[in-house]
Amino acid sequence: MAQAGLTARPGGPLRGRIRAPGDKSISHRALILGALATGETRIEGLLEGDDVLRTAAAMSAFGAEVTRDGESGWRVVGRGRFAEPADVVDCGNAGTGVRLIMGAAAGFALTATFTGDGSLRGRPMLRILRPLSQMGAGYLCREGGRLPLTLQGGALTAIAYRLPEPSAQVKSAVLLAGLNAAGVTEVIEPEPTRDHTERMLRAFGARVDVEDAADGRHIRLAGGQALRGAAIRVPGDPSSAAFPLVAALITPGSAVTVEGVLLNPLRTGLLVTLREMGADLAIENQREDGGELVGDVTARHSALRGIEVPAMRAPSMIDEYPILAVAAAYAEGPTILRGIGELRVKESDRIAMMAAGLAACGVGVEEEPEGLIVAGTARANHKVAGGGFVRTHGDHRIAMSHLILGLGAETAVAVDEPGMIATSFPGFNALMTGLGADIR
Ligand code: S3P
Repeated sequence: MAQAGLTARPGGPLRGRIRAPGDKSISHRALILGALATGETRIEGLLEGDDVLRTAAAMSAFGAEVTRDGESGWRVVGRGRFAEPADVVDCGNAGTGVRLIMGAAAGFALTATFTGDGSLRGRPMLRILRPLSQMGAGYLCREGGRLPLTLQGGALTAIAYRLPEPSAQVKSAVLLAGLNAAGVTEVIEPEPTRDHTERMLRAFGARVDVEDAADGRHIRLAGGQALRGAAIRVPGDPSSAAFPLVAALITPGSAVTVEGVLLNPLRTGLLVTLREMGADLAIENQREDGGELVGDVTARHSALRGIEVPAMRAPSMIDEYPILAVAAAYAEGPTILRGIGELRVKESDRIAMMAAGLAACGVGVEEEPEGLIVAGTARANHKVAGGGFVRTHGDHRIAMSHLILGLGAETAVAVDEPGMIATSFPGFNALMTGLGADIR
């Protein structure tokens, strides 16, 4: 379907206090664990973006009762098992949704066929299918492990699986399959990745053991554990909060506070990096909420300087590299981003998309097979040129990143497919406009 583009124009300072939408990772997990559990799960603050709504629909298809309950709440009544869906399960744009659901479904004696949009159908699924088939699941898929694919679950045996790439999605899929496998499933992650599945499994009454050893983090889960419905409060998504925060950093005179942001240390790599670049970021009102650390983050316009970002930090900020590259464009000196090959298999090839988009906006950029070097433009009164028309290949974070870039540039920046922003950040435009941004 043809969509009108969206244009961000440079303008005055951004000011105000906002709340980021619910965390996407936690939202998917709350629905899936709610459907796997027995009894009622209430979810407050669920992200109502397209990705998560697809997971909600999928959980209905697998036999749970999923309803929107009042203003901000969702209710899931699980039956302690998945039933066979009557039709193809379409996960839209959501890699997290399809991969976690496949893991959960593999534990039951059922056959399910999964598909997604053009982007998701191009993304690698063998990373999930390999461990699931080692556990005993069957599958039939397109060339290269692509969707659509059919999964046949049931009669799984636990495995010990060392993650070949740092991926919370793969870890989560194996653990969710392990819930209904015979024996103790173990995932070994050489580099720690977001641990929301482990935390939430505990909130649903499961026992998950975590041990840090010389060869990485070992996560163990015994099969056959029953989950009980739980009450989940979803914190604000740091990956979404990143956009207004970076907008404030690059727009003179700005001060923006995002309230209730998830501050799990496995998700705060961007904040650490921006501070190293000289960002004025204040974190207040830190508190524990629903088993996760949250706080209010204030960003004020700052003179940024380029740095080399340690590759080992990548898992804690993997979705934030596009917006970090925008901050880097406004910094003094080059910013070196390496060890980010995983970005090539996200919703789009984000290394290539950022290289092309930044270049279209007059920013010097060098693309490497697994990295990106962004030439900062900041010198006295020297701005980012802007003026680009950016093709986003349906990638929500590429679209938002370039719109933010346009707010501080010399001339406006336009993107082609703003509709995709709603996959992770419905209301992005209204929220940014409310802070004073000119995005139309
Ligand atoms: C996610 C894990 C990350 C991230 C994605 C959400 C999750 O993917 O990019 O947006 O919720 O587990 P990988 O597991 O592929 O790194």
